[in-house]
Amino acid sequence: MKPSEMWQLVHVGRPAPPYGVRALARCYSIEDLARLARRRLPAGALGYLDGGGEDEWTLRRNRGAFAELEILPRVLADVSTVDTTASVLGATLPVPIVLAPVGAPRLFHHEGELAAARAARGAGIPYGISTLSTQPLEAVAAATDGPLWFQLYAWGDRGLSKELVQRAHAAGYRALLVTVDSTVRSHRERELRHGIVLPTPNLTPRTVLDGARHPRWAWRFLTSSALGFPNLSMSGPISHTRLSDMFDGSLTWEDLRWIREVWPGPVVLKGVLRAGDAKRAADEGVAGVVVSNHGGRELDHSAATVDVLPEVVDAVGDRIEVFVDSGIRRGTDILAALALGARAVLVGRAYLYGLAAAGEPGVRYAIDILSEELRVAMALSGVATIADVGRDLVRRIRP
Ligand SMILES: Cc1cc2nc3c(=O)[nH]c(=O)nc-3n(C[C@H](O)[C@H](O)[C@H](O)COP(=O)(O)O)c2cc1C
Repeated sequence: MKPSEMWQLVHVGRPAPPYGVRALARCYSIEDLARLARRRLPAGALGYLDGGGEDEWTLRRNRGAFAELEILPRVLADVSTVDTTASVLGATLPVPIVLAPVGAPRLFHHEGELAAARAARGAGIPYGISTLSTQPLEAVAAATDGPLWFQLYAWGDRGLSKELVQRAHAAGYRALLVTVDSTVRSHRERELRHGIVLPTPNLTPRTVLDGARHPRWAWRFLTSSALGFPNLSMSGPISHTRLSDMFDGSLTWEDLRWIREVWPGPVVLKGVLRAGDAKRAADEGVAGVVVSNHGGRELDHSAATVDVLPEVVDAVGDRIEVFVDSGIRRGTDILAALALGARAVLVGRAYLYGLAAAGEPGVRYAIDILSEELRVAMALSGVATIADVGRDLVRRIRP
């Protein structure tokens, strides 16, 4: 072979990075995005993103429970085309993934919700925005024609909650997620240690130094509009004490009735871990439940979601849609969740790492990683469609 012919056997140069973003070039997994995010964020914002309640048993258990599941692939099934489309609350999604609502995402990237909403739209999946969003719910709706869900934290003053729900409906949000696992504010020590008092970090010599070590983040933070919770601005400036009005522990099943009256679309309860509660929710007429422990951020020692998912599915899966979140980082996690009966998964930190790493393209890339991993996991498991994914596909390593 002539030396000139040898060049035809190799590629010269690096492949184009995802979405043209150089920083993403060496990220192949959500954990790679997490590593990049951890470099970019100051300790306070990172503690808020990564942290969990108290000793973080549940946070760790969320991953541990997935690690204890094993997949039993089928062989010689034709998987030359794999179809990941799924039906979620009456809509057909290209993949059964929803971006979970998170408060204050502008702490991770200056575009916050707008970046996440656009990325979700690009991927054709729903984006849930939080009551504690850092962009007004109307601005997020104006920035995208993709499907949006609104997440409600109900105020002690129910009038304010009603107003919020009505605004979300008027702005075109399609589903209402009512979060029920955050009765009072939980103890998150990583946030306290790093001076995170939402919505604004405490200015102390330590947080200033922390910001100085992350000049790109600090510059964006200081040159963007002040961080706040604009959905709540009609009720005056929001403070730590005012947030405690929201998490006053007074929400009951009675509230679900007026919520359903005010919201004409599907209502989904987020944060259910017991089959009995899921049954009661179905009796009350909700369209779905999210089996969730809030990503391990609320009650420490609460059950890992994949541990209780089958019980909830057995109790209500034939009546309402059952979703799951908390700890999903891989396509195989999504496959396992579907096998245990989930209709779709919500992902929180997985896309937030992408957001912190590279804004909108980073979120889009996180969704692409999970979607592609799911497609490959399905093919290697011998399932060509979501309907083929059954409970026989997974079992617990230690029964
Ligand atoms: C930084 C952060 C903020 C969150 N804020 C909210 C919120 O405002 N409302 C809510 O219902 N859930 C909130 N969650 C929980 C997520 O909606 C979701 O349940 C959780 O992130 C799923 O776990 P995962 O992060 O392991 O995917 C938040 C999660 C994170 C990581």
